Amino acid sequence: MIKQIVYLGWWFFKARFLGQKNPLQTVLFISDRCNLQCKHCSVYQKENPHNMTYEQIREHLEYSYRLGSRFVDFEGGETMIWRDGDKNINDLIDLAKEVGFFSATITTNAQLPFTHCKADSIWVSLDGIGPYHEAIRGKGTFARLEQNIATAHHKALSVNMAVNTLNYESVDETIEYVKNNPHIKSISINFHTPFEGTEYLTLDMDIRNRIIDKVIAYKKKGYPIMNSVSGLKKMKHNNFKKRCWVTNFIYPDGSRGLCIGDGTDICKQCGLCMAGEMASVFNFCPDTLLAGMKLRM
Ligand SMILES: C[S@@+](CC[C@H](N)C(=O)[O-])C[C@H]1O[C@@H](n2cnc3c(N)ncnc32)[C@H](O)[C@@H]1O
Ligand code: SF4
Repeated sequence: MIKQIVYLGWWFFKARFLGQKNPLQTVLFISDRCNLQCKHCSVYQKENPHNMTYEQIREHLEYSYRLGSRFVDFEGGETMIWRDGDKNINDLIDLAKEVGFFSATITTNAQLPFTHCKADSIWVSLDGIGPYHEAIRGKGTFARLEQNIATAHHKALSVNMAVNTLNYESVDETIEYVKNNPHIKSISINFHTPFEGTEYLTLDMDIRNRIIDKVIAYKKKGYPIMNSVSGLKKMKHNNFKKRCWVTNFIYPDGSRGLCIGDGTDICKQCGLCMAGEMASVFNFCPDTLLAGMKLRM
C-alpha cells in the first residue's frame, strides 16, 4: 500500500509539474470475440475475431508497465470466454501481478459464471433493469446476469451502466437496485459514446444533463455511485481539457495508442465517465482522488 501511494505521488508530481505524460492505467482488449451482440457496441466482431495469445498479452503488459502504467483493465469482447490453450482470465490476472501491476480489473457481461475470479475488482455491465437491459443486450441476459452476480461472492464487484436512448428511463430503478443488492458495491454511470454505427443511441444533451443532476443528487444522499461529483459536473458540458493520455489503450489487433475517439468529433460527445474522472484527478479534486483510491486500493 505504501509503495503504491509513493508511486502515485511521484507519478502525479511528474505529470503535473514536469509535464511528463506517462500513462497510469492500461485498457487491454484481449479479444473482440463475444457471446453477445449488444446494440450499443462497436467492439465485437462476428467474422474472424481477434484473440490475443498469452504471450502477446505478456508483451503488451510489459510494454505498458515500462511506460509507467500500474493498473490494468482487461476488456473485450467478452473477457470470460478468453482462452489460450489451458490459460484463462485468471492466468492473465496472475500475469499482470507478476509483471508488477498494482491491480487488475475485468469487465464482463456476466453471462457466464465468474465464481473464483481472481481480479481485484470486477465490473459487470448492467444497462438497466429487466427489459431495458435486454433491449440492448438480448433476451435472457438479465436473469443470467442476476444469477451470476449472486453466486460470484466477489468482494469488489461493481456495475457499469451505459445510458442511451433505449434505457435512460431505467436510471433511477437501476441505482435503487444497486443500493439494495448486497452483491454489488457501486454503480458507475456512463453515457453512450457514438462510435461508428451506433450514433442513433446518443442522448440529447438536455436529457443527459438532467440525468447527471439526478445522479449527483443520489450521490449526495449517500447512494453507492462510483463517479465523483467533480467528474460528473465535467461530463455536463463536456468541453473540459481532456487528460485521457492517463490511460494507454491496446486494441484486439495488437495496435497501441490512445482512445479511438481522441482528436475526433466522438471525443466532443464522449460519455465515458473516465474522461471526467481522469481530468479531475489531474486537477487534484479531492472527491475524485478519494473515489479513485476507494476503487483501486
Ligand atoms: C466493450 S464492453 C467489453 C466487456 C464485456 N463484454 C461487457 O459487455 O461488459 C466494455 C464496456 O463498454 C461499454 N460500451 C460499449 N459500447 C459503448 C458505447 N458506445 N458507449 C459507452 N459505453 C459502451 C459496455 O456497456 C461495457 O460496459
Ligand atoms: S457483451 Fe460487451 S463486448 Fe460483447 S457486444 Fe456487448 S458490450 Fe460489446
